Amino acid sequence: MRILQFFIVLLISNFCLAQKEPLIPMPKNIEYQADSFSLNPNTVIQVADVKAFEALFLKENIKVKTGLDLKITTKPISKNAIKLVIEEVKSVTDLSENYNLIIDKSNIQITASANQGLFYGIQTLLQSIPFEKTKNAKIASVKIKDQPKFKWRGMHLDVGRHFFPKEFIKKYIDYIAMYKMNTFHWHLTEDQGWRIEIKKYPKLTEVGAWRKGSMIEHYNDQKFDTIKHGGFYTQDEVKDIVAYAKKRHVTIVPEIEMPGHSLAALAAYPEFSCTGGPFEVAKIWGVLEDVYCPKEETFTFLEDVLTEVIALFPSEYIHIGGDESPKTRWKACSHCQNLIKEKGLKDEHELQSYFINRIEKFLNSKGRQIIGWDEILEGGLAPNAAVMSWRGTEGGIIAAKDKHYVVMTPGSHVYFDHYQGEPKNEPIAIGGYTPLEKVYSFNPIPDELTADEAKYILGAQANVWSEYIPTTKQVEYMIMPRMAALSEVLWETSNPKNYKEFEKRIIQHFDFYEKMGINYSKSIFEVTSAVLPSDKGVAFELKSPNPSGIRYTTDGSEPVLNSFSYTKPISITENTTVKANYFEEGKVKSATIEQDFFINKSTGKKIELVAPPHENYSIGGSFTLVDGMVGNPSKYGRDWLGFWGKDLNATIDLGATETISKIKINTLLGEGSWIYFPKEIQFLVSEDGKNFKTIQTISQKEISQKGGRIEVNFPKTKAKFVKVIAVNNGIIADGMPGAGSQSWLFVDEISIE
Ligand code: ACM
Ligand code: ZN
Repeated sequence: MRILQFFIVLLISNFCLAQKEPLIPMPKNIEYQADSFSLNPNTVIQVADVKAFEALFLKENIKVKTGLDLKITTKPISKNAIKLVIEEVKSVTDLSENYNLIIDKSNIQITASANQGLFYGIQTLLQSIPFEKTKNAKIASVKIKDQPKFKWRGMHLDVGRHFFPKEFIKKYIDYIAMYKMNTFHWHLTEDQGWRIEIKKYPKLTEVGAWRKGSMIEHYNDQKFDTIKHGGFYTQDEVKDIVAYAKKRHVTIVPEIEMPGHSLAALAAYPEFSCTGGPFEVAKIWGVLEDVYCPKEETFTFLEDVLTEVIALFPSEYIHIGGDESPKTRWKACSHCQNLIKEKGLKDEHELQSYFINRIEKFLNSKGRQIIGWDEILEGGLAPNAAVMSWRGTEGGIIAAKDKHYVVMTPGSHVYFDHYQGEPKNEPIAIGGYTPLEKVYSFNPIPDELTADEAKYILGAQANVWSEYIPTTKQVEYMIMPRMAALSEVLWETSNPKNYKEFEKRIIQHFDFYEKMGINYSKSIFEVTSAVLPSDKGVAFELKSPNPSGIRYTTDGSEPVLNSFSYTKPISITENTTVKANYFEEGKVKSATIEQDFFINKSTGKKIELVAPPHENYSIGGSFTLVDGMVGNPSKYGRDWLGFWGKDLNATIDLGATETISKIKINTLLGEGSWIYFPKEIQFLVSEDGKNFKTIQTISQKEISQKGGRIEVNFPKTKAKFVKVIAVNNGIIADGMPGAGSQSWLFVDEISIE
């Protein structure tokens, strides 16, 4: 009898057990209960005001997910209600983003002290509802108490390189709100297009919003089409979008770039340049020489523009750009040079600082704060400026230590214009390699900061530059699912050590993308890899959401279901090509990845670097140079080490004295990304590790002639140690992309035979 009862209870509870839907970002405190709420045609939304946006938003989205069209009422309901409750809370801290959500058998209740918290509770509730047309949706009972960590939870979008219509901007805001993010950084002006109507300067959009063609394929290919491209947002459209965002608790931070990235404005008004023009709106990507000249007329123009901008955008911060502004024109301009003397400035960097300071003063006088890219640190930071740290986290660290607010957007973790999967299986991207797991591992607070300094980190955001993103579908592809990972980082419920758990949730969440028609990336199904040192050669580790589904070959053939099944890292002791992909239920789920290994005397040996590579390009550390994989030029985010302004100085310990007669190394050229060949490469050998003998030095000219693939052959020589020094190109010469800035040096694979 007791056993029978037990089975009946089990049966009933199983029957009531609702599926736990994937929540992203995962709430701070969550306690599931055994039973569930039944959402049905009689369920009512109870709220203080039937016209409240939150109630209407909930109603509309429940309809999208289930087909149920619920009534909204102000009458107290005792059962089968979704209650939206604002409870005044007196507190010194801002609790407006916090909420509680209780789902039980009888009712659902969301409580918050402000509409924003209520809205986030609604987002969590919506994620908790299964996405299927039904008259009885089971929602798992739960108690959630939730609050975010960071104040700035942002997404950026560049509409300058490619224009995206207003309807898509709203969709983008919907995505931001769905993941409980709260800031949209709208990059509105660029060399390739000015995108916002300014009434006082109509030519900004008549001329500046249109270009006669665009770069196609990769920058390195230097190809263009002749298709007119452009568009802009009228002030009425901007007002509509700002209001749309406000309802969804998203602040729009507009960016009006200066002094660089402003060729579209100069094409319309060449009088604000140093040379007077004429100019055309740019077709080429990159960093261009013509920038605003700091004349009084230019400041008047910019203040007029900003006056119209701040009337449209109520945000505390106005982004003024400040990045990638070459000093070439300023150096040759008599006005600029006189101004430097007159103001007692040291150089053009201080002139840029003077420029930004003046703009800051103006915006501060209107009650606004400026935020700019980390170059605004150069030549001295404006007194109240916040810094957006993109060239790594160093700029952010310096600013926070100096008590300036910071938003972290380092290229290493949150540049969503980078590849997220194997480049050959992806749409063309600018470069870099930022897979989902990398985003998920991001910590916006660097270890270098004390707890007090860390308070200056407002948060983080992902940047979506659109040079290589011509369509809205591709924007979706680049942000999904990476922005889901970022949202959890910013909510502070990410746990990189348990990435597998997040990965499981994201795969469940893909169903939402499918049903909403969102064009997301499935690159996480692709087999990923890591190379590890091993006794003889290296070991090749393959990873996928379910490693037992991996099949691989080592004979160059395409993997099929009965190829080798992956169980442990593959030992590579001779030249081999590994091809792998991932199968689920007998079907291939991902594109094939392919890796060649070249095993030689340096493979897997000890290697020491005098200076470490830049944090953005250091996956795998120094071992990258002796891992048996010769870097693929399109994967400089992964297979290569990147040094910014620094030299490569590497010493390989062969472990024993060997007879050698050949050393190889590769280096990259990517001018559009400021990557230049080294000035020279020196090859040295030693038997004792102290006294080194130079074997050969290769000049930049020769490196260039060989396309960066260097091989030195020499008479048989005994050596235990091999040293390779690649001297950085240093400050980029005038007239070249990135002029005046430090060069990047990318190197890979030092092979020794
Ligand atoms: C930037 O990526 N140029 C800020
Ligand atoms: Zn000038």
